[in-house]
Amino acid sequence: MAVERSSSTSSSSSSSSSSSSTTGGLIVVREFDPRKDRVGVEEVERRCEVGPSGKLSLFTDLLGDPICRVRHSPAFLMLVAELGGEIVGMVRGCIKTVTCGKKLCRNVKTNTSNYLKAPLPVYTKAAYILGLRISPSHRRMGIGLKLVREIEEWFRQNGAEYSYLATENDNQASVKLFTDKCGYSKFRTPSILVNPVFAHRVAVSKRVTIIELAPHDAVLLYRRRFATTEFFPRDIDSVLNNKLSLGTFLAVPRGRYGPGSWSGSAGFLANPPESWAVLSVWNCKDVFMLEVRGASRMKRTFVKTTRMVDKALPFLRLPSVPDVFKPFGLHFMYGLGGEGPQAVKMMRALCAHAHNLAKKRGCGVVATEVSSREPLRLAIPHWKMLSCAEDLWCIKRLGEDYSDGSVGDWTKSPPDSSIFVDPREF
Ligand SMILES: CC(C)(COP(=O)(O)OP(=O)(O)OC[C@H]1O[C@@H](n2cnc3c(N)ncnc32)[C@H](O)[C@@H]1OP(=O)(O)O)[C@@H](O)C(=O)NCCC(=O)NCCS
Repeated sequence: MAVERSSSTSSSSSSSSSSSSTTGGLIVVREFDPRKDRVGVEEVERRCEVGPSGKLSLFTDLLGDPICRVRHSPAFLMLVAELGGEIVGMVRGCIKTVTCGKKLCRNVKTNTSNYLKAPLPVYTKAAYILGLRISPSHRRMGIGLKLVREIEEWFRQNGAEYSYLATENDNQASVKLFTDKCGYSKFRTPSILVNPVFAHRVAVSKRVTIIELAPHDAVLLYRRRFATTEFFPRDIDSVLNNKLSLGTFLAVPRGRYGPGSWSGSAGFLANPPESWAVLSVWNCKDVFMLEVRGASRMKRTFVKTTRMVDKALPFLRLPSVPDVFKPFGLHFMYGLGGEGPQAVKMMRALCAHAHNLAKKRGCGVVATEVSSREPLRLAIPHWKMLSCAEDLWCIKRLGEDYSDGSVGDWTKSPPDSSIFVDPREF
């Protein structure tokens, strides 16, 4: 395959474009240009999402902004593949600094003047690939592989040490492309848990108080308690201060804090209650909308009926399905954590609170993604039929000069009990 290179610029740093010939003609890979490529990209997305006839399929409407799922990351790039002037494929990538392990530091002083070994995060620059799509009529021509190689080149130029992606375990084309052809290995299998938003409010335990944290308090709490969690983003402040972050909520036993007695996260962490839990909510509804297509008339009528009954008689607490056959939005719960014997109970209260927030803001579902070993997952309500038990994350080491000396090769490390899933890339 002959490849020519020429330079171009990306939204966040410089990249390159290239062309190569296939049996079907000359493939040009270049940076996405919002002024002229939007329609072509949307057409490829549409063609990729047509499910097998007679089966349900999930459509994603990116609300006219093909870069929406990466644009909140510190550095991002979208590439398109063009054949004879027609867009036939695309890929998005973003780079950020995340925790890849922890090391012990001896210099932390406790209240009793003793010195403790405290774990500190080890950071690495990691790149994430998402939204790789090739038009069905142009598959198996090497275009997907070419797009991956090009985006990896941009990752390397920008100092990324690892590249990773998430794919469905049973997506053979994608798994084979990344593992057989691109050198990725299977790394983690977190679960995507999805719960419908009912027409009734869900009761929040009366034995729990929920406090909404100011962004600076949320940043402090996350940095102090969760910075060593795998994939924790070093720029957590940009995440929590983003307009899409709808709030961070802390659950504590009732009676612990009266009105006005909250004095900030530093005081809280110096003397925390025996049990507490925290989560944050991200507004994906303003980024993309979803829609289930291909449902039979009978299914639609059933869903509509349960909804009508739930709306009319909310005290029955009927677990009704929202109208997912029209575009609907979702909220994403992230940064879930907690401590103590009652942490699961606290988390349950937070999930109920998040449900009611999603209902108030007109969402169809609430989703989250947690490690398969997450101890708090027991508290997260979800419907199995809407969830994905094993979202496959694959990873690759991009070079040999590393800053992660005390961790070694991250790709070989065993999974931890928790994982931080960045809402900017969900
Ligand atoms: C996955 C996808 C991007 C592959 O794109 P593509 O341009 O067809 O892939 P390529 O032609 O570059 O294939 C490279 C290698 O990937 C593997 N591969 C690709 N499609 C495959 C398939 N249907 N079955 C098995 N292996 C496949 C093969 O190893 C192939 O090499 P080979 O042709 O020499 O055997 C494409 O099928 C697609 O857009 N799927 C729908 C969206 C999607 O699943 N995206 C990935 C989400 S992360």
